[in-house]
Amino acid sequence: MEIRKVGVVGCGLMGSGISQVAAVAGFPTVVLEASQELLDRGLASIERSLTKFVEKSELSAEQKSQARDRLQPTLTLAECADCDLVIEAIVENLDQKKQLFTELDRIVKPGALLASNTSSLSITELMTATRRPSRFIGLHFFNPVPLMKLVEVVKTVVTDPEVVQCGLDFACRLGKTPILTTDRAGFIVNRLLIPYLVDAVRAFEEGFGTIEDIDQGMKLGCNHPMGPFTLMDFIGVDTVHSIAEILFDEYREKRFAPPPLLKRMFLAGMYGRKTGKGFYDYGDPKNPKVNRLL
Ligand code: 3HC
Repeated sequence: MEIRKVGVVGCGLMGSGISQVAAVAGFPTVVLEASQELLDRGLASIERSLTKFVEKSELSAEQKSQARDRLQPTLTLAECADCDLVIEAIVENLDQKKQLFTELDRIVKPGALLASNTSSLSITELMTATRRPSRFIGLHFFNPVPLMKLVEVVKTVVTDPEVVQCGLDFACRLGKTPILTTDRAGFIVNRLLIPYLVDAVRAFEEGFGTIEDIDQGMKLGCNHPMGPFTLMDFIGVDTVHSIAEILFDEYREKRFAPPPLLKRMFLAGMYGRKTGKGFYDYGDPKNPKVNRLL
């Protein structure tokens, strides 16, 4: 079981990052999007990121151009037919993902592995949309993918151990550090991260401190690169809200439930950096200003 060619479905924030690291690691990589506009946007973000690596001398100009040449952008799912591994990175919608996997299962050669980059949907449930349950895994990357070292490899109760090993080896070949986890909502990282983030919202609602002070507290007191509110704006308030709902649904424990403020911000479309407004206002992206929320 050797991975020679990779397919990545979805070229948004996560898909573009995954495509980039696969291409840099030497894999011919089919990059699939639903429209030319989305594809162009994803490829432009890969280009910007590769340029940063060249500017920092972490990649040579030649390595950058070789990586670019390994990318095979397409709008046609059938181009994934001869991939040995196809990683799905589309919107976090169970029905859309299942429909995609059913189609991929028909198109991609029988021995190939299918993987989902979902942050919280059940790998087991996604797997049921295919006829290759033992060859289906979770490969959960972290944002920004080119910089973050971790990949969670998620096995189900029926994943073939060789497939698990193949997922772990693949992450290593990308220069990442894999950790192995079982298919439970949130896997390891979000199981721990999301309660921390939603608890920061509760601490703010309960008057423990301002958004800025809570952020500073965790940044300077615990050496986190970002405080919880900056991180939620970075991940996306909509994403944090959705993962919290999924965790609450699975575990039925209050600590996972989205607090009222998070829910209101989600309903109001205050998703953070991607919409320009979240816990902070990004009108001037280099100098975000805290929003009045209470
Ligand atoms: N590609 C290449 N280089 C990049 C880049 C990218 N996509 N994004 C940033 N960089 C570079 C910048 O150019 C900069 O380079 P320099 O040092 O030469 O100037 C360097 O990385 C640092 O970037 P910034 O100065 O903009 O900002 P920071 O120093 O704050 O670093 C960060 C950015 C790496 C994102 C850091 O703040 C961080 O680690 N934050 C936490 C991120 C995190 O926790 N991610 C996980 C989220 S959870 C998740 O993804 C799971 C999901 O399921 C929810």
